[in-house]
Amino acid sequence: PTLSDIKAIPDFEAAARHFMNVSDYSYYRTGAGGEFAYRRSLEIFSQVKLRPRTLIDVTNISLNTTILGYDFTAPFFIAPAALAGLTHPRAELNLAEAAGAENILYAPSLSATMKIEEIAAVAVPGQVMFHQLYVSRNKTKLASDVKRIEAAGFKGIFVTVDNPIEGSRTRESRYGWPLTTDSDPKFTWESYRQLRNMTLLPIIPKGIQSVEDALLAIQHGAPGIYLSNHGARQLDTSQSPLEVAIEIHENAPEVFKKTFVFADGGVRYGTDILKFLALGVKAVGLGRPFMYSNLFGKEGVQHLIDLMKEELVIDASNLGVADLKQLDTKWLNMGRLLAF
Ligand code: FNR
Repeated sequence: PTLSDIKAIPDFEAAARHFMNVSDYSYYRTGAGGEFAYRRSLEIFSQVKLRPRTLIDVTNISLNTTILGYDFTAPFFIAPAALAGLTHPRAELNLAEAAGAENILYAPSLSATMKIEEIAAVAVPGQVMFHQLYVSRNKTKLASDVKRIEAAGFKGIFVTVDNPIEGSRTRESRYGWPLTTDSDPKFTWESYRQLRNMTLLPIIPKGIQSVEDALLAIQHGAPGIYLSNHGARQLDTSQSPLEVAIEIHENAPEVFKKTFVFADGGVRYGTDILKFLALGVKAVGLGRPFMYSNLFGKEGVQHLIDLMKEELVIDASNLGVADLKQLDTKWLNMGRLLAF
């Protein structure tokens, strides 16, 4: 396949299966355990139905989105994923450049192929990037990671909280993975407070998977929360982030007003993003698809962004949403998913 054969986001995965060696592909693709949560993260979107409205003027749909005070051209972003170097020698640099060219948010992983400073160096003037952080058990390294992220000019930190230890990833382990992430199994809400005292940057817990933890995050002053199950790579049969969003909507809908909510997991279509937005999520991440798209370099990453922008406009138009800000749960039929 060449880039012009890629007509929708899942086509990038087909290309990755074709071009990548099986070991590297397995590292990107793996989920935890029997990968039930991975499959569910994709399938769940089909269980939430859209309720289109008709005879609405949809000629001027704008995707512009503000994320924690910064303006972007779309409500989706490039989620942090380790080792972009497995598909392209320029690794994260392509992702950063494509994000800059399109003005969408990118948050590199702390386990990136390139150094924090190297990624920051390719930003275009005015480009805003966030950075992911694993809380190292080595306090000196942790302090240095935070300082480096800050000094390099990143504007926010996603601190990963769904990874007290590495998940059991059978698919990748067959090829000698995983790489170990050096995260601290003693990391608690108290340590989260201390982390916030180390920097003025907003620190957003990434990996919130229940309404209880969403509320705790707000109690601890989180300026944002990130609903995610790490691409189903940590705990198999964990509920999908879309279900977490529904759980919050049902039990504590004020969460979506009190804090800025990010989410990711299995997002492959424009309609997936519209469903998250309707529940109150403000920015939606894609992990694996962006990693696969980097097989085609910066051009591939930009192609993914363009395809998703196009799909979002087409889908919002057919849903009858003239302005994405009007989206709420009246646009959804959640059927039996509401009963848990
Ligand atoms: C990840 N993810 C991840 N998350 C994180 O906080 N730090 C990390 O270093 C990584 N690394 C990583 C590597 C790879 C190969 C994948 C696929 C994922 C999780 C990532 O941020 C995101 O939550 C998921 O990828 C979202 O699910 P989808 O879009 O891949 O289905």
